[in-house]
Amino acid sequence: MTRVAPARCLCLGVFLPLMLAAVLHQAHSADPTPTPQTTAAPHKDPERPERGTYQLTDGNGTVCLLAYMGLQLNVSFNSVSENKTFEEVVNVVPKSTNVSGLCDSKKAVLQLTTDGQSKNLTFVFTLNTTSNKYHLSEVSLNATWPAIKGPFLVKNSSLDYLRGSLGYSYVCRQEQTLTVTKELSINTFQVQVQPFGLKGEQFGAAEECQLDEDAMLIPIVVGAALAGLVVIVLVAYLIGRKRSHAGYQTI
Ligand SMILES: *[C@@H]1O[C@H](CO)[C@@H](O)[C@H](O)[C@H]1NC(C)=O
Ligand SMILES: *[C@@H]1O[C@H](CO)[C@@H](O)[C@H](O)[C@H]1NC(C)=O
Ligand SMILES: *[C@@H]1O[C@H](CO)[C@@H](O)[C@H](O)[C@H]1NC(C)=O
Ligand SMILES: *[C@@H]1O[C@H](CO)[C@@H](O)[C@H](O)[C@H]1NC(C)=O
Ligand SMILES: *[C@@H]1O[C@H](CO)[C@@H](O)[C@H](O)[C@H]1NC(C)=O
Ligand SMILES: *[C@@H]1O[C@H](CO)[C@@H](O)[C@H](O)[C@H]1NC(C)=O
Ligand SMILES: *[C@@H]1O[C@H](CO)[C@@H](O)[C@H](O)[C@H]1NC(C)=O
Ligand SMILES: *[C@@H]1O[C@H](CO)[C@@H](O)[C@H](O)[C@H]1NC(C)=O
Repeated sequence: MTRVAPARCLCLGVFLPLMLAAVLHQAHSADPTPTPQTTAAPHKDPERPERGTYQLTDGNGTVCLLAYMGLQLNVSFNSVSENKTFEEVVNVVPKSTNVSGLCDSKKAVLQLTTDGQSKNLTFVFTLNTTSNKYHLSEVSLNATWPAIKGPFLVKNSSLDYLRGSLGYSYVCRQEQTLTVTKELSINTFQVQVQPFGLKGEQFGAAEECQLDEDAMLIPIVVGAALAGLVVIVLVAYLIGRKRSHAGYQTI
């Protein structure tokens, strides 16, 4: 019976460091710096896409939209005519991508034509002039693949992604998935975008996305846990010392 308490202590002593190690490991794997891809892995998906710089100029030649981002398209649908599921994950390769589009006071349209003009990806950003907030409101893709007949067309005009304030840039270092329809989602990597209110050719101050804030929170939580552990050990030590001290006095 008297062994229970020491056994419990031992358990705690073993598990706490293990738990901390697990948390620390998680914190490490959530690190936003790009991890090198393992080439040996039998993985069909492509590597992290390269980060592209895309910009639009207005009628006066002033930059009106600026975007730094890595983009990956994830297409999957059931082709009834061909009786099969078509699945494809492709990276947008910046150096073989042409940029076109337009900006006006409430709307910015960024069109990326890539892969030998076989794929057009269009982003529409909308500015709400009442709240002075912008967001990605529409994404469409018109693409052809050698493996499928006819163009693949998807469009969703009721999206609400990449929200930012006028004059600020939207930043998200973490990978993010923008679901457009059930057939198309877009994985974004290291995004910084500003569709309105650029000063010169420069981004305004950054507004960080929630995912980044969560990632930054992990080290803080780990630090707090460590500090808590130190306090617990210290208190346990002091109590133990006081008890044994009191014990000697009664004898
Ligand atoms: C061009 O600049 C002039 C003067 O700054 C401005 O009034 C006009 O709206 C600008 N045009 C566009 C397309 O931005
Ligand atoms: C692509 O989307 C499918 C679901 O539609 C998902 O299972 C898969 O993990 C996605 N792949 C990537 C690389 O995002
Ligand atoms: C579709 O393909 C499956 C096997 O891949 C087959 O069992 C099925 O009969 C096919 N359906 C049609 C309508 O061709
Ligand atoms: C980009 O545009 C140029 C000129 O219009 C064209 O020659 C080139 O093929 C285009 N590249 C892509 C990837 O569409
Ligand atoms: C993409 O856009 C370019 C120019 O706007 C056009 O020439 C091309 O046919 C389009 N391709 C697709 C697949 O929409
Ligand atoms: C613009 O923002 C205001 C305040 O948030 C909101 O009430 C309004 O519905 C928005 N307008 C549009 C067109 O989304
Ligand atoms: C999609 O692309 C094809 C080929 O470039 C073009 O003929 C067609 O008009 C495009 N459709 C839309 C809705 O943009
Ligand atoms: C378009 O996006 C909205 C919001 O994400 C979603 O609720 C809706 O189902 C999408 N439409 C289609 C056709 O997938």
